[in-house]
Amino acid sequence: MRILITGTNSWIWKALKEALNSKHEIWKISKNISKDGNFFQCNLSEKEEIEKLDFGNTIFDVLIFNAGVWYYWEFFSQEMANYEEIIKLNLFSPIRLLKKLEHNINKDTKIIFMWSIASKKFMKHGCVYLASKFGLRWFAWGLKEEWKKVYIINPKIVDTDFHKGKIVLPENVKSIGVKDVVWVFEEIIDWKENRFEIDL
Ligand SMILES: NC(=O)c1ccc[n+]([C@@H]2O[C@H](COP(=O)([O-])OP(=O)(O)OC[C@H]3O[C@@H](n4cnc5c(N)ncnc54)[C@H](OP(=O)(O)O)[C@@H]3O)[C@@H](O)[C@H]2O)c1
Repeated sequence: MRILITGTNSWIWKALKEALNSKHEIWKISKNISKDGNFFQCNLSEKEEIEKLDFGNTIFDVLIFNAGVWYYWEFFSQEMANYEEIIKLNLFSPIRLLKKLEHNINKDTKIIFMWSIASKKFMKHGCVYLASKFGLRWFAWGLKEEWKKVYIINPKIVDTDFHKGKIVLPENVKSIGVKDVVWVFEEIIDWKENRFEIDL
């Protein structure tokens, strides 16, 4: 299968790469230059950069929307520009990129959103992040009505460095392993998982 994935310096991506690279043809979109594999450089927060992407006649079997930013701020402590950056990447960029990919998918293409339990549960000091994840969750639900092969994965805390330096997690908060997340992706790609929304 030919898979296109966004956000490829992430911890989750690194684990996915190990699991998928040998079996599938992987294409990546990253803000930073990458030397391994098929790669498009694009700052997904910038609409002009998405518009400039050229995928030619390539048809992708799977799209994985993974790029996203998170923060831990009191709402009134930050400038509006910081919040706009979050909304641009987490909410607008998947919609804009999917529109751009209209002629690079076919009726069997699977669209997978690597999303978050934050789209369903409240948490302190993250209200704009919550808004971005919640907004895209409903986009995915709506899209599912038109395009049957849409999936959304909502992990809670994944055992990664995503939170390091931002918050200290209470001892009773359980995280899930990266391998659990990767396993769900593999199940979807192999047509073994049919649920639309999967909470981990
Ligand atoms: N880790 C967790 O506990 C957890 C829990 C629930 C949900 N999630 C979700 O999982 C996804 C991946 O998270 P992660 O834990 O792997 O985080 P991460 O290590 O911080 O990775 C975030 C990714 O987003 C990409 N990115 C950031 N700004 C970008 C931009 N302007 N343009 C293009 N790409 C950009 C980065 O890719 P490049 O550097 O290659 O550009 C990076 O690979 C996110 O959507 C996150 O919300 C994570």
